[in-house]
Amino acid sequence: MSNTVVTARSVPFFSLEALHRERRSDMERSFSRVLDSSSFVMGRELASFEEAFASYCGTSEAIGVASGLDALVLILQGLGLGPSDEVIVPAHTFIATWLAVDHAGAKLVPVEVDPATYTIDPERVRTAITPRTRAIIAVHLYGRMADMDALNEIARPAGIAVVEDAAQAHGARLVGRRSGSLGTAAAFSFYPTKNLGALGDGGAVTTNDPKLAARIRMLRNYGSTVKYLHEMIGSNSRLDELQAALLKIKLEDLDVKNERRRAIAARYNEALQGMPGLVLPQPAGEDHVWHLYVIRSPNRDALQEALRSRGVTSLIHYPIACHRQTAYVDQAFAQDLSLSERLASEVLSLPLWPEMSDEEVDTVTEALREAVLETAQA
Ligand SMILES: Cc1ncc(COP(=O)(O)O)c(C=O)c1O
Repeated sequence: MSNTVVTARSVPFFSLEALHRERRSDMERSFSRVLDSSSFVMGRELASFEEAFASYCGTSEAIGVASGLDALVLILQGLGLGPSDEVIVPAHTFIATWLAVDHAGAKLVPVEVDPATYTIDPERVRTAITPRTRAIIAVHLYGRMADMDALNEIARPAGIAVVEDAAQAHGARLVGRRSGSLGTAAAFSFYPTKNLGALGDGGAVTTNDPKLAARIRMLRNYGSTVKYLHEMIGSNSRLDELQAALLKIKLEDLDVKNERRRAIAARYNEALQGMPGLVLPQPAGEDHVWHLYVIRSPNRDALQEALRSRGVTSLIHYPIACHRQTAYVDQAFAQDLSLSERLASEVLSLPLWPEMSDEEVDTVTEALREAVLETAQA
């Protein structure tokens, strides 16, 4: 039996209600325009969004695709990876980063993240490189950009591609340059809860390499640019007109929304400072867009339950390390991945969405203060 006392203090983990209220009339206008056009796939809306997103990211190319996973797979396929090629990935990430390597038919080489930033540790990448390494996937996890300068420095002289998994970091900036423009190519997800989210699945690839872009454009469309002429073994992975039109509207607000996420994270950081047993996220600047606000505690499960009983919803990103998932238990990895297992048992994501009020943030921190006391006494 649930013992949740749902009061006025209840805080959900995330909500799109206010955002959609703010832009509802623009979104409805776009919906009508697409409906009236009777053009639903690979038309003007997609071209227009691709141009806007490339310009936003500071790249020459953006290619709309069906999901973030597809974006990663298409990049790896576009790079021509095969069974003899190795791809270095962070051990602590969402499973899609790993699945993409398998779908592309290459070999996974997981390495641990830096436990302070949760992004791939460049020094561990350096020691994992072999003559077969063809790509490194740098995940900007929770919204914080990986150390792209260090990774590019390691990869470029060896002719290794650096692929940004920017699914959680739309709009993040490193010394003025946006996520999506810092490696060989980048994959974005427009899953509804992302910083830039569609009303369904969607994704994009960005790159400054026109040849790679041309291959990916072909691969997403049955390996074809001219109808019924198929030059590559492609797939069907296109961003549809309706999603493209809606995303273009939401893109206009992305920087303002990311700024509000930063303000919420700063409010959390300040209020939670010094709370016993909690590891807070490291402060960050423009290189972090706070897709998630993630704390750590060895008491994580009890804390989550104590928050739940106070009406505050928290989530875990991610509760099982990728190599411990059933899909991967049969694979042996040479590396020690115990850190990612520990992170899986300790991380806890607090509610965060841009339209969240300061009062809601304070309700969460107050509930967490009580939860920390309660679980310390238990
Ligand atoms: C880090 C990361 N990579 C890849 C993906 C895959 O994106 P999608 O769900 O759009 O396939 C996601 C999101 O779900 C993600 O968080």
